[in-house]
Amino acid sequence: MSEALKKAVGEAAVNAYVKSGMKLGLGTGSTVTFSIDLIGAKLKRGELRDIVGVSTSERTTKQATSLGIPLSDLQQTPQLDVAVDGADEVVKAGESFFLIKGLGGALLREKEVAKRSKQLIIVADDSKVVKKLGTKSPLPVEVEKSAWQAVAKALEGLGGTAKLRESSGQPYVTDNGNHIVDVKWAEGIDDPRGLGRTLDGLAGVKAHGLFLDLTHAVLIASPKGVVTVGRADPLP
Ligand code: A5P
Repeated sequence: MSEALKKAVGEAAVNAYVKSGMKLGLGTGSTVTFSIDLIGAKLKRGELRDIVGVSTSERTTKQATSLGIPLSDLQQTPQLDVAVDGADEVVKAGESFFLIKGLGGALLREKEVAKRSKQLIIVADDSKVVKKLGTKSPLPVEVEKSAWQAVAKALEGLGGTAKLRESSGQPYVTDNGNHIVDVKWAEGIDDPRGLGRTLDGLAGVKAHGLFLDLTHAVLIASPKGVVTVGRADPLP
């Protein structure tokens, strides 16, 4: 997605959903970074007041702090009004959205924040919209370091191809001190809800990138403009 499209959709979400006095979940990624920039700019201009943000990653904390956005955490601020975040894949499932998230590595805190938000607003471009989950993106699974081999084996037992994520030739370490196993199924994910339940019950799994039934609206950017898709609308 071009930077211009990311900026357009990132800013559109703030203009439509972020109001003064809100407690906000601040997502992670190259799209939502534009949302965070605009929140900072609006605070500075006095167009937004009394905002408190809860960050989903060290990266976002750094950006929000540099912009003067007041931050809290889920201990102090357990109920959020709106969270804005990106996604790696988006599918419409009846009146619900299914997402894959976590290619940026922040899935654990992103999911905690999404669950505590009255509204989760997703910003993405049309390349993220797919017919079936798992056909473009692998599914990130965050695992305790000592358990990654056992979890990878269990994922292969579920028919997937599992790979330990690396960064500069070393196992990738999340903000929470865990590793990530990326798993891909040749034909995509047939039963996201069933898989989600299985992964929730796997020892050593701290979080997985299936975000099911959590999203209220998806803003999708394409060269034609930004479209807002609610739960009752079809995807473009
Ligand atoms: C971070 O862990 C991810 O869930 C991101 O939200 C997701 O990868 C989307 O990021 P981009 O906006 O950079 O594509």
